Amino acid sequence: MTKLSVAIVGCGRISAMYKGVFQELKDEVEVKWAVDIKKDRAEAFAEGFANCKVSTDYRDCLEAGDIDVIHIATSHDMHPVIAIDAMKRGIHVLTEKPMAITLDEADDMIKTAEETNVKLGVIFQTRYVKGCMDIKKLVDEGKLGKIIAARSYLSWSRPDSYYAQSDWKGTWDKEGGGVLIDQAIHSIDRTVWLIGDEIEWIEGTMGNRGHAAVNVEDVAEAAIKFKNGCLYHLFACNYYSYDAPIQIEIVGEKGKAGLTQDLAWVHLDGEERYEIKDGYDGLSVGPSYWGSSHVTQVRDFYKSVREDLPVTIDGVEGRYALEVIKGIYISSNTRQRVHVPFKDQRITEIK
Ligand SMILES: NC(=O)c1ccc[n+]([C@@H]2O[C@H](COP(=O)([O-])OP(=O)(O)OC[C@H]3O[C@@H](n4cnc5c(N)ncnc54)[C@H](O)[C@@H]3O)[C@@H](O)[C@H]2O)c1
Repeated sequence: MTKLSVAIVGCGRISAMYKGVFQELKDEVEVKWAVDIKKDRAEAFAEGFANCKVSTDYRDCLEAGDIDVIHIATSHDMHPVIAIDAMKRGIHVLTEKPMAITLDEADDMIKTAEETNVKLGVIFQTRYVKGCMDIKKLVDEGKLGKIIAARSYLSWSRPDSYYAQSDWKGTWDKEGGGVLIDQAIHSIDRTVWLIGDEIEWIEGTMGNRGHAAVNVEDVAEAAIKFKNGCLYHLFACNYYSYDAPIQIEIVGEKGKAGLTQDLAWVHLDGEERYEIKDGYDGLSVGPSYWGSSHVTQVRDFYKSVREDLPVTIDGVEGRYALEVIKGIYISSNTRQRVHVPFKDQRITEIK
């Protein structure tokens, strides 16, 4: 198999996962560049990869002309900037979530991918959890019947120290929000994907009740109505005492299915409740809430690049969760129901 040459831009906390992924996929990938504005972080990442160059400026790895794929794991504001620069040079992009802070930037990324004919992927590794994929299959096969309701519930802990340690988390301009855009985005992505229909409207509220040092939201709730009639009820907060398992539930006219973190269950009408599968998928690095599926998604993306196949979670797919989140922010600040499609705006405060 021809090895893909890759760069990673952003060698902070999540880069530990990428280090594990690149080591696991050592027959598929050659790590050519480690880039971070903090040089020591790039140097630390490069250790263990022969011939891995280090830079503090991402443009160095674009201009060198020696990479096929760029992995973006920086603060959220930089994702579209780096992605668009890379795609314009014919480099395939796999960016961490969220793909951008605004829908306009997300649309620019999608358009650039189309125009340049390169692959654009967005990391939502928790979709790849086995139980989640099994539930998706049940929904697609109609085993649950018409989907009429769904809920996702996240109550995690991000203490003041979490925000104090970062120069971008807890800011509207660099993180683009709080608990929704950073933590709950995965459960929102999974729920919307499982429902599998177009969103009609979003109505929600957000607040900050436990984090006086930052002004992004640490709690939000919303109702999200789909064109098929399904009503999705969402709650997220990060002022809880610990990272409790995420709860996701999908209700159909013929049964229900759900996930407690990565453990799936199904209850078809008239049958006993049973568990499908543990979500473990092969690579545990870092906190358990990162899951184990980064490696599965990265491998899937590399296959798309190598064999010129459609990307499973491309820009269009990656945009859905962002649309829900931005809809909640706008709805909360305007105290109005937001109908899709809506004109996005850069949020700077909780009103
Ligand atoms: N998929 C997941 O489960 C998961 C988990 C954690 C974080 N993330 C995502 O990963 C990304 C990074 O998060 P993190 O927790 O590692 O943050 P972090 O702050 O620990 O790391 C970000 C790094 O990017 C560097 N950086 C910022 N701007 C840069 C630029 N212009 N060029 C090069 N480097 C730059 C910073 O110096 C820092 O080292 C975010 O998008 C976050 O949402 C995803």
